[in-house]
Amino acid sequence: MAYLLGIDVGTSSLKAVLIDESGATAGSAAEEYAFSTPRPLWAETDPEVWWQAFLKVAPNLLEKAKVTGEEIAAIGLSGQMHGLVLLDAEGKVLRPCIMWNDQRCAAQCAAIRERVGEAKALALTGKPFLPSFTAGKILWVRDNEPEIYSKTAKTLLPKDYFRFRLSGEFFSEVTDASGTCLLDVSKRQWSDEMLDACEIPRDWLPEVTESTVVSARLSSEAASLTGLLEGTPIVGGAGDQAAGAVGTGMVNDGDISVTLGTSGVVFAASDVCRLDPERKLHSYCHAVPGKWHLMGVVLSAAGSFQWYRDALCGEETALEKETGRDAYELLTDAASGVAAGSEGLLFLPYLTGERTPHPDPHARGVFFGLTRRHGKAHMTRALLEGVTYALRDSLELMKRLGIKPDQVVASGGGAKSAFWRQMMADVFELKISTLNATEGAAFGAALLAGVGAGIFPSVEEACAQCISTTGETSPGPDAKVYKDFYPRFRSLYPALKDEFEALSHVVEKHFKET
Ligand code: XUL
Repeated sequence: MAYLLGIDVGTSSLKAVLIDESGATAGSAAEEYAFSTPRPLWAETDPEVWWQAFLKVAPNLLEKAKVTGEEIAAIGLSGQMHGLVLLDAEGKVLRPCIMWNDQRCAAQCAAIRERVGEAKALALTGKPFLPSFTAGKILWVRDNEPEIYSKTAKTLLPKDYFRFRLSGEFFSEVTDASGTCLLDVSKRQWSDEMLDACEIPRDWLPEVTESTVVSARLSSEAASLTGLLEGTPIVGGAGDQAAGAVGTGMVNDGDISVTLGTSGVVFAASDVCRLDPERKLHSYCHAVPGKWHLMGVVLSAAGSFQWYRDALCGEETALEKETGRDAYELLTDAASGVAAGSEGLLFLPYLTGERTPHPDPHARGVFFGLTRRHGKAHMTRALLEGVTYALRDSLELMKRLGIKPDQVVASGGGAKSAFWRQMMADVFELKISTLNATEGAAFGAALLAGVGAGIFPSVEEACAQCISTTGETSPGPDAKVYKDFYPRFRSLYPALKDEFEALSHVVEKHFKET
């Protein structure tokens, strides 16, 4: 029996999964780590942290699954997208990775938008030039850390840096490269025009392949440190969203999914490269050769719930420690006792700024409509409703581009909650499906490895063989209530937009170094 190894270099943990040729999970292991926020709007991790996590995860996984390095036919990589890892000519990391959720480079992005023009940037890169994406982060280093910039020889995305640690090779692939704002997304190759506009040397960037192509092989050094076999093929893999979509079978035109992780992602697979003239949804190359996808991202989705638990729910976390009952479950149980619409309490989930549909690093979280009748259970429910309305914003944009969803596949930590799945069905007014595949991006990366190793004839076939529906939730009576509250949610951001910006300037003035 051959096995396939999928690795996801995530935001808060590294996860690895081993599957067999039928797609069945032989084992999985993960190691958590923290990222730092040295200033408001900043988010960084030392890439060494990812590597050290893998050195723990790999031997542990092989032992748990009773699989040897020799039995692994190929490795697929996935990871958090958009992050910037800078290397010098010796391959040494020059500074911590500036991550996807770091919004520090608004000024550099505005300058490039001005220089290239919004319409041109959209036509080339499939998206507006925003601080989330990699290119602006490179320009921030140029403007603020010239010493580091002058030593730079290579820029890599997180999972591509990981490939470098595994193999010594510099490669990226089309899905993750699409998230840099330097790839010509319709041509699936680096855009000379964008590179020129950003004055980024072409040789700083790795070669780009399709996601299923074997681009590197495990080095003897990495083999001796991990228990894997020297020479094991490593396929291109994919950014976590495209890999996650492969892992949930979102590979055919019109397939739509919602992933409720730290960020919340609404994803639609497409046979053609569709561009959103409003520049709110973003186009990427898919991990299926010759296909694309559209994406809308709520930056703090389950991340809002995590913040809420950690900042305000000490009682529930203490109870979790005492009784073993999950704090999230305790909170959603209480919230289910409150009627849909939370008696008029609304929540805007823009805790780390927002990307879709409001590309605004200054946007902030808001509870709106508080009265003395509202208690904690109302706040919990309002928070989940707010995240779900924000996801609906992206679905509405997709409908405007002619996509007609008949169901949404839900995955990610948040989708484990039956309460949240029912809320999604009610707010979206669509059936929500869940699948047998729950290992997310690492599983998708393993399937891509299987295509590269010739175990599956195509990505579509790999998904058809390994993924099936396990549950469905249909819209219920609460859909009527949400229909009335959703427009109220939509009106709030435009009403507060200028205030968010004014507030962030005052914060910048008084809290710059915190
Ligand atoms: C996708 C995105 C996040 C990160 C981290 O565009 O920004 O999903 O990939 O998971």
